[in-house]
Amino acid sequence: MRQIAQLGIAAGAVGLGSSRLHASEPQHCAGPPHPNTAIPWKPDTHPIAPRLAASTLGAADVARLRKAYAALRALATSQPEDPRGWLQQGNKHCWNCGGGLDNQAGEEIHGSWLFFPWHRAFLYFHERILGSLINEPSLRLAYWDWDTPAHRAVPDAWLTPHDSSNPLWDATRGAVAGNQLPTWLVGPQVINPIVNAPTFATIGGTATTAGNLENGPHGGVHIWCGDTSSHAAKADMGLLDTAAQDPLFFAHHANIDRLWDQWVHSASTHTNPTSRAWLTHAFTFWDEQKRWVSIRVADVINMSTSLRYTYGPPTPPTAPQFTEASPQALPLPGDPAHGVALPDAVRKRLTAAAGQERPPRLTTLRIDGITLPPDAAGIYRIVANSPATSGDTVVGTPNDLGYIAIVPKTSKGGHAHRSLTVELDVTTQLPQLAKESGTLHLTYVPMAETRAAKPNQLTYRSVHLVER
Ligand code: C2O
Repeated sequence: MRQIAQLGIAAGAVGLGSSRLHASEPQHCAGPPHPNTAIPWKPDTHPIAPRLAASTLGAADVARLRKAYAALRALATSQPEDPRGWLQQGNKHCWNCGGGLDNQAGEEIHGSWLFFPWHRAFLYFHERILGSLINEPSLRLAYWDWDTPAHRAVPDAWLTPHDSSNPLWDATRGAVAGNQLPTWLVGPQVINPIVNAPTFATIGGTATTAGNLENGPHGGVHIWCGDTSSHAAKADMGLLDTAAQDPLFFAHHANIDRLWDQWVHSASTHTNPTSRAWLTHAFTFWDEQKRWVSIRVADVINMSTSLRYTYGPPTPPTAPQFTEASPQALPLPGDPAHGVALPDAVRKRLTAAAGQERPPRLTTLRIDGITLPPDAAGIYRIVANSPATSGDTVVGTPNDLGYIAIVPKTSKGGHAHRSLTVELDVTTQLPQLAKESGTLHLTYVPMAETRAAKPNQLTYRSVHLVER
């Protein structure tokens, strides 16, 4: 994908089945045996400290983070059964996302509203473990703000030196120095509908559906960092079973966590679910003292008071855009087989706007209830009214509405999503499409390096046109 995005060279599609596994892909990833009952987690009372943007870390911050990851890696070698060590941490993530190659797994926390709070708790315990290993309880993770256009390369501390003398480096990472996340993967068109999501269900999912941050840039950055096809030997971040073996995982997820927090605080209408089922849902983790503890979603909602961290600002600060928090959503008639119809009045208005400069309004299509075949994994473009069979040929055209990124569970494939919601920024494309047709036939088309699942008619429940 990096080559395609940067040089315009189309790489041949390489199926994962034919590629070799890298050494660290776990067969079985359950952790060491744990007590039958977990102790309830107690609110943390350590001083509150910020997680800083990776670009703002000073030399001492980098040295401290490296010292902590060095200790985490050393523990994995000296005490492989210690649940706090580097590989055990990676396997904890594997266990909760479909398991290793033997498919044995714990609770699935991807593909639903558990995605945000579970990862918040996972990062919290990871951070506490890192701090305690070097006896620095004020140590906080750093975040990689890939949504800031100047920061689309892997942050330098994780890249250089490019060898095992750097505990933040990962030998099985695909992204290397000089690679930049492409605009289509993390640019404003992708970020705007996320930070402006009108409901938690859209950004963070429901009990049975995934939100658009998870299947958008979250998955996109994973797959970009850990190439799952042509560089299968460098797949760590690109597969859920190995992703958390790369220290970059934690900088990436801190940014996901920050975007969730930023969303909650950017409008009074942006609220977390109040459902008891969500708030009382409990997860279990090993803490920094090797205690098996249980933490509820309600415990992680207020990260500063209970988990003792905040987020330092990105530099330069990202300007908030399109601040209408409760936009109108117009249901569009139609279905996957016949396409969705643009009502005449809407079509007229859109057509009049075609060819004009990008209007200051954000127009999105929210597609609910998308289901993909079980072998879907990788990056798919959502395409309207085009026979294209390769996603690469439509990037940036009016027919290209955006993408869905599905991180495969293992190198054998599989994904966590039963049903998902996307909200795509179609501000510039929709007026062009409306000029040509009053109906939108939606297909999903794999990027060239994406695994399996052929282009096909998109299966969904409903489509809404949302204008701000
Ligand atoms: Cu648990 Cu980024 O995946």
